[in-house]
Formats: sequence, C-alpha cells, structure tokens
Amino acid sequence: MIITIDGPASAGKGTLAGKLAQEYKLAYFDTGMVYRAVGIETLLAGIPADNTDMAEKFAKELTFQKMMELSKNPSFRGPEGGKRASVVSAIPAVRAALLKMQQDFCKNPTFANGNKAQGVVYDGRDTGTVVCPQAEIKLFVTATAEARAQRRYKEYCEKGIKTSYEEVLNDINQRDKRDSERSTSPLKPAPDAIILDTTHLSIEEVFEKAKEIIDSHQKNLAI
Ligand code: DC
Repeated sequence: MIITIDGPASAGKGTLAGKLAQEYKLAYFDTGMVYRAVGIETLLAGIPADNTDMAEKFAKELTFQKMMELSKNPSFRGPEGGKRASVVSAIPAVRAALLKMQQDFCKNPTFANGNKAQGVVYDGRDTGTVVCPQAEIKLFVTATAEARAQRRYKEYCEKGIKTSYEEVLNDINQRDKRDSERSTSPLKPAPDAIILDTTHLSIEEVFEKAKEIIDSHQKNLAI
C-alpha cells in the first residue's frame, strides 16, 4: 500500500505520516529531507541556496546514505535548513535530479533498520501529484498559517531554538508563497486527494480521521 501525505509546512504531515507508518507497518519517506540535504550542502559550502549550478550538482550527487549523514547537521531541522530547502526546491533542475531517488523508494521500501516493508507512507508537497501519482491513498493535510506558526514556534522553543512567533509566521508565509508559486510541481492537492484541515484538530483526532479513510478504502477493496 502506498499513502501520500502532502500539504504546507507545519500542517502536521510528519507526525501523521509517522503514526500511520507505525499503524499499518509501512516504511516512511519524509521527502522534505532530500531538499533539506541539498540546502545543508549549500550551507556547508558557504554559498547562497539560490546558486542553481551548485545546488543542481549537490542534488545529482545526493544518495540516501549521504542524506542521512547530512540530517545530523544541527541546522537540518531548524529555520536555516527549512529556508534553504524551500529555496533549492524551487529550482527545476534540483527537483528533476531528486525525483528518481524519491520514486525508487516505493519500488523497494525498507524500514530504518534495512528490513523490507510492504509499502510506504510518503510525506511532502508533491508526493501525490508527481512522485507517486499511482498511490492508493492521498491525503492533503492543511491548517491556517497562524495555527501552523504556533505549532512550529512551540517546537522551536522546546528544542531551544531562539526565535519569535512573528518571525516563524513570516517564514511560513514566505515558504507557502514559494512552495505554491514555483513553476515546477507547485504545492497543490492531487485531484483525487482527501483534504484534512487540522486547524482545530488534535494529533489524535487527525490520526483517527486518516485511519477511517484508509480502513474504509481497504474494506472497499476487499468487497
Ligand atoms: O516538509 P519540510 O518542511 O521538511 O520541507 C522543506 C522544503 O522542501 C519545503 O519548503 C518545500 C520542499 N519540499 C518540496 O518542494 N517537495 C516535497 N515533496 C517536500 C518538500
């Protein structure tokens, strides 16, 4: 089974994807990691993220193993990693270079320990539209920019990252704009995606709703 979960930054995709992967014993691919990895490469090289030639070079040379190594960088999950990922992800040549790696994963999905899995939960912006349009279940998880900024601000505070709510909200608005206005694979729900607005829902409520959708899909297949 392949499940795709797309949506804007901090809508709760990662948490939901992780919980669904555990529930249905599926592998999990957080596709934002490929863009964060290229963004971190530009940071380590001391160049701006919009250096298209270098970003494309890093994207072409990226392997799964290298991505896991780069994910240990302290800036990988922080504001700098997110901003750089958003910038490099708007470069069409970078997206093209990173597509195969994302698509190959569902041909041979594995858990973090290397064991084979029977399917995958993808999380990203274009996984239901471009990476895996053949997915059985497509969810588009969203929430207002204010609710998402509040969640991310709390997360940064818990991690000890110094920032303000206003800064986080501004960053989210900029990322939404870049992600949805870029020429290649802009952020939008697949025509067959089910929209889940999480603004007023807890993680548990979102999880229950997603489970209902998946279980009813599986029941229909069995009939
Ligand atoms: O989900 P995230 O915050 O880790 O994503 C970081 C950036 O990567 C985001 O601003 C847009 C980009 N991205 C993308 O363009 N396509 C994806 N499938 C996943 C992420």
